[in-house]
Amino acid sequence: RREERERLARINEVACDYYHQILLDGPEGAAGRQYLRKRGYDGEMARTFRLGFAPERWDGLVEHLTRKGFDAKEARELGLIRPGKEGRGDYDLFRNRLLFPIIDLGGKVAAFGGRVLDDRLPKYLNSPESPLYHKGRMLYGLAQGREAMRKNDTAIVVEGYFDHLALYRAGFANAAATCGTALTEEHGRLLQRYAKKVLLLFDQDQAGRKATFRAMEVLLPLGLSVAVVPLDAGEDPDSFLVKAGPNAFTERLNQARPVLEVYLDALLDEQGDGIEGRARATEEFLARLKLVPSEIERGLYLRNLAQRTGLAQDLLEKKLSLPVAPSA
Ligand code: UTP
Ligand code: MN
Ligand code: MN
Ligand code: MN
Ligand code: MN
Repeated sequence: RREERERLARINEVACDYYHQILLDGPEGAAGRQYLRKRGYDGEMARTFRLGFAPERWDGLVEHLTRKGFDAKEARELGLIRPGKEGRGDYDLFRNRLLFPIIDLGGKVAAFGGRVLDDRLPKYLNSPESPLYHKGRMLYGLAQGREAMRKNDTAIVVEGYFDHLALYRAGFANAAATCGTALTEEHGRLLQRYAKKVLLLFDQDQAGRKATFRAMEVLLPLGLSVAVVPLDAGEDPDSFLVKAGPNAFTERLNQARPVLEVYLDALLDEQGDGIEGRARATEEFLARLKLVPSEIERGLYLRNLAQRTGLAQDLLEKKLSLPVAPSA
């Protein structure tokens, strides 16, 4: 297994170099360079993140690997090469896409994400899971961001590749991206190695809101301090930074609120003022409050909940100490 992993790791490195050189100065990379420039990034950022461009052809990587003395079929296991149908040759997974290598904590390329240059779908294509890549255990940009996380004792969690790049460019290096997948406990434990405080900064849309409260359920039991940064509706960190600039962004970071406060607001908002709604909001909130390891914190939130709902605090305390069925 170890030998196989090393072999696959070499292929990922060779593929990464291949795509990277094309983006930096290959004749086939002009469209990729233009796209990157349009989004405000220079060659230095491309080098820092080893960004690449997959040319618009079916067998660029197949050919390159063969030329380098690899059996290109070996790249099938990484998903970089797909088997051709009925006698046709293998072909590249990534074609005409800007590539983001996902670098593991050992500095090796584990996988790639690739963006189209226009509005075709799917917008992003990612390497499949492989012996080198388990998406539930990897965060994009953690390798580049972890030192700054340690220094600030704060990790900013974003959704996308470009969110990470935009934050880095604006001087906020302590970020990592989930790449659109749900945050896992393993992600949480990775972040916990570097910081006690997590700022959730997902897209301000329905999916991002949902992801925020799911991440809350994963991160609170780890004893992390979790806060939510407010952006305007429809924005993501990248679009906000482009629109409003780093100073406005810093202001937003300073407006971050504890995730449970945001969650309670959202619950009370959604469920309305009726008795049933308030009862449901209370149950939901208590179920999440149970996840907080600190008794003192739980006590403070409980007082807050009592004030907001008008319920007696000792009733809530009794409810909190009873087992709560996890809500669907
Ligand atoms: P978004 O749709 O928010 O894209 O997906 P984005 O990062 O803001 O991209 P830009 O700014 O339009 O270029 C967030 C993340 O979810 C994953 C990617 O990791 C993306 O960065 N995703 C999204 C996919 O894996 N596949 C998709 O088709 C779309
Ligand atoms: Mn796996
Ligand atoms: Mn999104
Ligand atoms: Mn987005
Ligand atoms: Mn975006």
